Amino acid sequence: MAEDQEKIDEQRRTLIKGVIGASIITTILGAGSIATYIFSPTAASSRQYPKVKVANISELTDGNAIKFCYPLTGEVNLLIKVGTPVENGVGPNKDIVAFSAICQHLGCIIEKYYPTGEPFYNGKYQKVMECPCHGSVYDVTQDAKVIAGPAPRPLPRVILEYDDSTGDIYAVGMVGPVILGKGRAGEEGTDLPDNLNPPGSIVDNTTVRTCGEQV
Ligand code: FES
Repeated sequence: MAEDQEKIDEQRRTLIKGVIGASIITTILGAGSIATYIFSPTAASSRQYPKVKVANISELTDGNAIKFCYPLTGEVNLLIKVGTPVENGVGPNKDIVAFSAICQHLGCIIEKYYPTGEPFYNGKYQKVMECPCHGSVYDVTQDAKVIAGPAPRPLPRVILEYDDSTGDIYAVGMVGPVILGKGRAGEEGTDLPDNLNPPGSIVDNTTVRTCGEQV
């Protein structure tokens, strides 16, 4: 009998160990699931675009442009003071806009804003960004609509905020697609797209004009 009792006790001990072990595993897996949720790409998609100061209005004159990077250090944009009110323009005259300088055809960098239209069309188009590679022309007075060349869609626009009291101009978001292959076409907002990685190169107030010296 004593031997039988010992066997039963041994079985109970084994059962209790199993239950405790299963509980520990479940707890670990549960914590892992929570961690997976917290750090998952879905949760990361609620990250916001940075709000960074791009320039002060005193740095801009009618018809000139300032290069800056946003939202990543390698992504070039032009901040343009057109000189006449334009669609989505900010500032006292509603004439300041910013667009990605990465051509939506094959990704060449558009280095300049052309108040009088150069170099492909010899002045035919006014107030445009012209791509030096294959001649896509974007009208900055019409939200960078394509008016010539092979580009399939407008340039993404940087959403700007203007501070009336200081004249400072801030970048706060993008109208997608942010750059070729990233973001979603037509989306506008201040939430970063899911596929905008790595987050380590997002610009701040010190890199927005230097572009992190990547371009
Ligand atoms: S890359 Fe700009 S027109 Fe082709």
